Amino acid sequence: MKKIWIIANWKSNKSIGEALDWLNIVGPKLRKRENIKVVVCPTFSALSELKKEIQINNYPIILGSQDISPFGVGAYTGEEAAELLRDLIDFSIIGHSERRYNFGETDEMVAGKTKQLLNTGKTACVCVQGNETPVPEGCKLIAYEPASAISTGLNNTPGVGRPDNPDEANSVAEFFKKQSNHSDLEVLYGGSVNSENVKGFVEKESINGVLVGNKSLDPQEFLKIVESCGTV
Ligand code: PGA
Repeated sequence: MKKIWIIANWKSNKSIGEALDWLNIVGPKLRKRENIKVVVCPTFSALSELKKEIQINNYPIILGSQDISPFGVGAYTGEEAAELLRDLIDFSIIGHSERRYNFGETDEMVAGKTKQLLNTGKTACVCVQGNETPVPEGCKLIAYEPASAISTGLNNTPGVGRPDNPDEANSVAEFFKKQSNHSDLEVLYGGSVNSENVKGFVEKESINGVLVGNKSLDPQEFLKIVESCGTV
C-alpha cells in the first residue's frame, strides 16, 4: 500500500487553546494506519502544549514546526534552533514560499536550515516552487508548491490561488525524483488542497502526499481529507 503524508500547515493561526480544541477533535477520530502519516505544524507557541496532549492521549499525529533556525544555539535573537526543539518536534517545513517572499529567505538559508534539522535526526520537508528550486543536500522529502496555487497567494489574500493540475504536479514530482541522488526521495504536492481534490493528487504515482494550509484549520474538513487519502 502506498505511503501517504498529510501535513497540516497552520501558518500564523490558532491560539494555544484553539490548537488544543482542534487536536481533541481530530486526534480521537484518527485511526492508526501503517501507510498514512499525519503531521501537524502549529505556531512555535503551541508546540509544547500539543506535544503533551499528543503523548498523553497517544494520538497518531507527528508534531512539526513551520520553520527552523539556519544556525545552532547561540546569539541569534528571535531564532528557534533545531537542537532546542528536538524534544518537541520530529519534523519541520523549511523554505515555504511565504518565508522566501515575505522574509527574504534564500536558497542558501534554506540549505542551512535543512542541515541544522537533519543533524538532529528529524525530517526536513523542503518546499520547492518549481523545477529550478535547488533541493538541499541530504533532503529526502520535498513539497512542490507553486506560489500561484497557494489559496491565499503570498499576501494572505483569500481566494486568489488555484490548485495545480494533478498531472502537471505529478510530472514535476517525477522530474525531482529522476534528478535526485536519493532513490527514495518523496515528493508532496501543496496548494489549495481540499477534501474534494486531494484524491486526484495522491492517486498520482509520483506524489507521496499533500501539504495543506487553509483547509487544515477546520478539524472536520481536515478529517475528510485524511479519510479521502485512506481510500487510495
Ligand atoms: P493552502 O496553503 O492549502 O491554503 O493553499 C498551502 C501552503 O501554503 O502550505
